[in-house]
Amino acid sequence: MVGFENKAVLKLLLVYLFIQFSVTCGNFFQPFNVTYDHRALIIDGKRRMLISGGIHYPRATPQMWPDLIAKSKEGGADAIESYTFWNGHEPVKGQYNFEGRFDLVKFVKLVGDSGLYFLLRIGPYVCAEWNFGGFPVWLRDIPGIEFRTDNEPFKREMQRFVTKIVDLMREEKLFSWQGGPIILLQIENEYGNMEGSYGQKGKEYVKWAANMALGLGAGVPWVMCKQTDAPDDIIDTCNNYYCDGYKPNSPNKPTIWTEDWDGWYTTWGGRLPHRPVEDLAFAVARFFQRGGSLMNYYMYFGGTNFGRTSGGPFYITSYDYDAPIDEYGLRSEPKWGHLKDLHAAIKLCERALVAADSPQYMKLGPKQEAHVYWENAHSTGLNTNLSESQSTCSAFLANIDEHNTATVTFRGKSYSLPPWSVSILPDCSNVAFNTAKVGAQTAMKVVEYASSPKISAPELVMTKNEASSITESWMSVKEPIGIWSENNFTVQGMMEHLKVTKDESDYLWHMTRIYVSDDDIAFWEENQVSPTLVIDSMRDVLRVFINGKLIGSITGHWVKVVQPIQFQQGYNDLILLSQTVGLQNYGAFLEKDGAGFRGQTKLTGFKNGDIDLSKASWIYQVGLKGEFQKIFTVEENEKAGWTELKLDSTPSTFTWYKAYFDSPDGSEPVALDLGSMGKGQAWVNGHHIGRYWNLTAPKDGCPNSCNYRGAYGSNKCMTNCGKPTQTWYHVPRSWLQESNNLLVIFEETGGNPFEISVKLRESRILCAQVSESHYPPLDQWLNPDVIDGKVSINDIRPQIRLQCEDGHIISSIEFASYGTPHGSCQNFSEGNCHSPNSLSVVSKACEGRNSCSVEVSNSGLGGDPCRGVLKTLAVEARCVSSSTIGVSQF
Ligand code: GAL
Repeated sequence: MVGFENKAVLKLLLVYLFIQFSVTCGNFFQPFNVTYDHRALIIDGKRRMLISGGIHYPRATPQMWPDLIAKSKEGGADAIESYTFWNGHEPVKGQYNFEGRFDLVKFVKLVGDSGLYFLLRIGPYVCAEWNFGGFPVWLRDIPGIEFRTDNEPFKREMQRFVTKIVDLMREEKLFSWQGGPIILLQIENEYGNMEGSYGQKGKEYVKWAANMALGLGAGVPWVMCKQTDAPDDIIDTCNNYYCDGYKPNSPNKPTIWTEDWDGWYTTWGGRLPHRPVEDLAFAVARFFQRGGSLMNYYMYFGGTNFGRTSGGPFYITSYDYDAPIDEYGLRSEPKWGHLKDLHAAIKLCERALVAADSPQYMKLGPKQEAHVYWENAHSTGLNTNLSESQSTCSAFLANIDEHNTATVTFRGKSYSLPPWSVSILPDCSNVAFNTAKVGAQTAMKVVEYASSPKISAPELVMTKNEASSITESWMSVKEPIGIWSENNFTVQGMMEHLKVTKDESDYLWHMTRIYVSDDDIAFWEENQVSPTLVIDSMRDVLRVFINGKLIGSITGHWVKVVQPIQFQQGYNDLILLSQTVGLQNYGAFLEKDGAGFRGQTKLTGFKNGDIDLSKASWIYQVGLKGEFQKIFTVEENEKAGWTELKLDSTPSTFTWYKAYFDSPDGSEPVALDLGSMGKGQAWVNGHHIGRYWNLTAPKDGCPNSCNYRGAYGSNKCMTNCGKPTQTWYHVPRSWLQESNNLLVIFEETGGNPFEISVKLRESRILCAQVSESHYPPLDQWLNPDVIDGKVSINDIRPQIRLQCEDGHIISSIEFASYGTPHGSCQNFSEGNCHSPNSLSVVSKACEGRNSCSVEVSNSGLGGDPCRGVLKTLAVEARCVSSSTIGVSQF
């Protein structure tokens, strides 16, 4: 009996110990330490070269996170990076929110689950084109507060929030030494750009922030980005389009690139930025070539500024960023695929890269250079699959000439380097990858209602389909102009916008009454003048109403208002509706910035002189009636007194619309096409999908073709000139039910809701073009026969690889030609040389499959169609949802 009891106790003890062990070990990794030296982060005792993908968790839904993380991992990321968003996590002082899209713990755990590391940039100022740079607007109300400087009230609040996040991560065992994925933290954000504005206090603040962060005992290194005076124990890091020249401020710190801007954001009425992948790959390769060790794509997935989270002035709802994963979670090709190849090439060099303390530099020509990394006696013992002989030397050969191809000689061999490109030689002999030679597939996306016949436009298109309008049955209700509730107040003088709204709404109504005498009217008629409203300065949008009628709209960022007005004799209601369109997220003294009006507000042109409205008595009303009644929610929408909207009704301003719609079938991401509307906000089943605004980009400024060569800037390869900046608005699938989805829209300027449609976003067409002289697939370097030396990497032929999105298969090969095909995607044609087998070989390999590869060689394509000619295989394939095809086709 005693023995049995002892056994049971022992068993319990073992279970207890096991639980303790697994808890202390965390769920993701064996606990490991992170330190660093001048060369790299040292993870569990080993230097590492790391690729990271920026994903801001609230810019997607938790349902999207696993797929985004998986696609990042498949694309070659070792880590995921995100800011934290203070105003999302603490919308009301002391009331925290870590739910839904703000479930940071869940996001970090998903990253850990997938075996990736996590870089957490706490800020808490984050910039990020996020409303108010992440600061809660209530922070402004703390007496005596000055942001981001040596100011006690600010420091107290900042410390409280940063501590909260660090403690939360520790409690959840998410730091590396707890077996969690977090290997690096960031305090502040690009404060170096602002420090000068704060004088000595700025310097003190940097020291304080560093000490405060270090004092939290997080146990992993901290960085400060763009902070040349970062103190000793904090790594200063680079944010830019290129960071290959970057040197941290101490020889003991590694070179880290926290923001590699792979695209850019845009404003309402702006063009769409585009950074060509050849240049991006060049920048990344140059970074690792010249001694960089950790690079993070800002953004790897940009996502969506749902709700009113976009920053300003005037940032659009989409935060696509031209990132490798698009706003909807689909791969953006060839960006994703070309970078995947690049990452694989860099990984093949990792052993040599981490072994060498610094590269050996070799000048190869006037604008050509090599950096060679040798594994020497001080090897860190990094375990890769490469054999000793292959791993001992890796080299990067760069041609920074923007115009000319260069032929260089390196270690006795000749290499041809396209302009503005880097070749990566994992074994110092064979080229695995060149940044300017894209072998990856291109994907043409469509945004359309349902499967439709052939797509003709070469770019991302929306096929207009009248039958696709969401519904013929709309209801509407007018928003009252001006004061709509008891909850208004009267003040002598102009109040600063944010002081009144606390950013609970974009809208602030101001109303005053103006008396106009017969004399005034006579004066205006005689002199042929009209009175004018003049405001010294205003942001972001002002709408002027006289006696309930909209008479003028002004848009701008601290612009002067000069608005002629026609008054009636007697009392006139002058209503000013001031609106924000995303609070300022960048700059010094953000707490003083505010919104609405600045300076004097007056009426000029009266007989007895100007009327100073800055001292007038104004009635204030925050927000819209519909907003505060929450008529966009399923529960409250009936409150509004909706009436049926007639098909022929004229566009109406300040109007709410509602309709119900069914979800489109399938799993493709869903977008609402709001191209027929003016400006406003939209909700689906109570979820705020964001602001919309139908502003058109300037006609000029988009090049016919984009030349990747030469230094990139956000104006360089713009697209979408002359078109509305944004017409599609992402509605995450998880916000939809099968039928009866409630769509509520608040429209300010007038639009036609009958033309609103629900669309699907799909990667419909894939193209690829690879020549016989292209490099072997990167994964072949890890082929055991290559590693063992049984097969030379040189003997492996290149391949074309096609991959539809998950749940999709290649339904048909629309074009295939092995020979000398002409043209580009959706425009291919056969050249003089064409193998008649092309289509059958490619179709056989690809049709019915999610992904396929075809060897680009005579043997792969059933013979040589033209001897002595360098041949290319060009393919265009069509992807369809596998559910529409049926299982029988597999
Ligand atoms: C950086 C900033 C980021 C983001 C980026 C532009 O300067 O650190 O948060 O705003 O610019 O997208």
